[in-house]
Amino acid sequence: MENLISMRDLTKADIKKLLDTARKIESGEILPDLERKVAGLLFFEPSTRTMFSFDTAMKRMNGQTIIMSGTKNTSAKKGESFADTLRTIAQYADIIIMRSPIEGSARYASEVVDVPVVNAGDGANQHPTQALLDLYSIQKTQGTLENLKIGLVGDLRFGRTVHSLAQALSIYNTEFKFISPKFLQMPSYIKEDLKEKNVKFTEYLDMDGNIDDLDILYVTRIQRERFADPEDYEKVRGTYVLQKSMLENVKENLKVLHPLPRVDEISTDVDDCKHAYYFQQAKNGVYTREALIHILLGGE
Ligand code: CP
Repeated sequence: MENLISMRDLTKADIKKLLDTARKIESGEILPDLERKVAGLLFFEPSTRTMFSFDTAMKRMNGQTIIMSGTKNTSAKKGESFADTLRTIAQYADIIIMRSPIEGSARYASEVVDVPVVNAGDGANQHPTQALLDLYSIQKTQGTLENLKIGLVGDLRFGRTVHSLAQALSIYNTEFKFISPKFLQMPSYIKEDLKEKNVKFTEYLDMDGNIDDLDILYVTRIQRERFADPEDYEKVRGTYVLQKSMLENVKENLKVLHPLPRVDEISTDVDDCKHAYYFQQAKNGVYTREALIHILLGGE
């Protein structure tokens, strides 16, 4: 494992190693030491969880971070190319963690620099470290990743987290329900990939009647910033709002996940119910990102 750009880069064995390492880090069984190591966090799109959990992960392991939030106050403003910016940061940092609105930018960065690159989200394409923490959260709450029934709800078209998660879960005999407005359905290239792997999925327009048999209900925000036409966003905003009353007949073991940020798609009355797991899910991001950095920098 040299970089993490897409979930397709990881084998089942890689994922197992990452999740096992995260579990050992969480329990204190291993305490990686990254003293004198520096992570370059290059974020060209807003972030709360991903940036701060990577920052926390480095600091928990005695490492340090240098942070670029957008290009303001950098020499990109003087006309420096993206490639030269990356090559320069790679002289200071042992690993680069990058978020960009441009699809494919993390792959490009990995071809330009000779330090490991982690994709922290590239446009509507992929968010593989979110998928890792989602897998960790699913395994922790369900005791397994195998043979689960998982509902993905909301913006399945522009939501990069569900693209990475669907690919990640495709190797665990998952049965999917994709619940979205027609305009925001899962992209064809992902559905084709699932069909090739004989993964079962069904598409629905409504949550009603479609959540009671699930093990995981994964809710996503409609990605307003990815809509070319604001009128299209207005047509679908508020389509799904999960209320506590809708969870009365769900399975005991059901957990509601959400990559966050939430806007209005999960009512706050769900937060204190036993099925809500989204804030613990965010905490799991630190353990999984510690594990990933540790392994990419040569740790066992
Ligand atoms: N889940 C996620 O990527 O959150 P941020 O955009 O806050 O990093």
